[in-house]
Amino acid sequence: MVVSLLACVVHLVLVRMSDAVDLGKGERAGLRRRLNDGDGSKKGQSEAAMGSGRMFDAVAPRYDFVNRVMSMGMDRAWRRRLVQTLQLEPSDRVLDVATGTADVAILVGQQMKSRENDTKRDGPCVIGVDPSANMLAVGRDKVSRAFLNDTVSLELGDALALQYEDSSFDKISISFGIRNVPAASRITALEEFHRVIKKEQGKRLAILEISEPAGTGLLARLARWFIRLNALVGAWLSGRRREYRHLLDSIQAFPKQDDFCYMIDKAGFTVLGVETMGFGTVKIFVAEPKATR
Ligand SMILES: *[C@@H]1O[C@H](CO)[C@@H](O)[C@H](O)[C@H]1NC(C)=O
Ligand SMILES: *[C@@H]1O[C@H](CO)[C@@H](O)[C@H](O)[C@H]1NC(C)=O
Repeated sequence: MVVSLLACVVHLVLVRMSDAVDLGKGERAGLRRRLNDGDGSKKGQSEAAMGSGRMFDAVAPRYDFVNRVMSMGMDRAWRRRLVQTLQLEPSDRVLDVATGTADVAILVGQQMKSRENDTKRDGPCVIGVDPSANMLAVGRDKVSRAFLNDTVSLELGDALALQYEDSSFDKISISFGIRNVPAASRITALEEFHRVIKKEQGKRLAILEISEPAGTGLLARLARWFIRLNALVGAWLSGRRREYRHLLDSIQAFPKQDDFCYMIDKAGFTVLGVETMGFGTVKIFVAEPKATR
């Protein structure tokens, strides 16, 4: 049981990344070249490439399908929990950053719609923003089929330079996205979240992310071991060793829980709690904005 659950977790990560690097031939060669150059500055470049919208554009059509099959639906449960931690109110305006194909935006939209009264809002109350136009196109289809056109709006945009006014959102979410922001820019992204969120009590930032479990306990060691084993198997099956190496690096390079909490704090939020799921491989960070940074 434990093993199979863990395998699901790992597969979700691998699938997400293997899809992400499933580029067109020319682009793949370019990415490979960048990944082959081992020094620090080039590493930064490849990190930027991994988080770019263009990369995700190539994989948009089958992204959801593969994700769902490989994670056996567990990604859904994690996203639902993420939305719960936002503690939505009927009057909220919500921003989902790195929304991709809009899974979280749609979950939020459904909840907001079910709580609506006769009171009419002007404009959509959920905005999903992402740098990949193709992912958004898939997302728009899903929004339409969920009858949420009036509730959810999907917009092209960059987490490091959000096109929204200061203090204009009540809740902000980001799922499996902050790891793809280059390490040096992560604080900038968090500061952007602080800029656009209302600086009041009860407002929420919720971040869902995958990382290596820390600790020396048996379970933590098993989890780490399985992440590595699965990366090996994935590399072997796909023949894309370097991409899987990069995936493993990005998971291992993601800051430890305390360090990431420190960054959230520095960007102007009070961390209210961290929830751990998937045997420590999946975490939700919940934070409230401070009045000032
Ligand atoms: C919906 O109706 C309830 C009860 O009438 C009210 O308390 C609540 O404020 C309303 N919500 C909105 C968004 O208008
Ligand atoms: C929702 O909007 C899309 C365009 O983004 C449009 O193609 C679609 O027909 C709309 N769906 C409904 C149900 O109005």
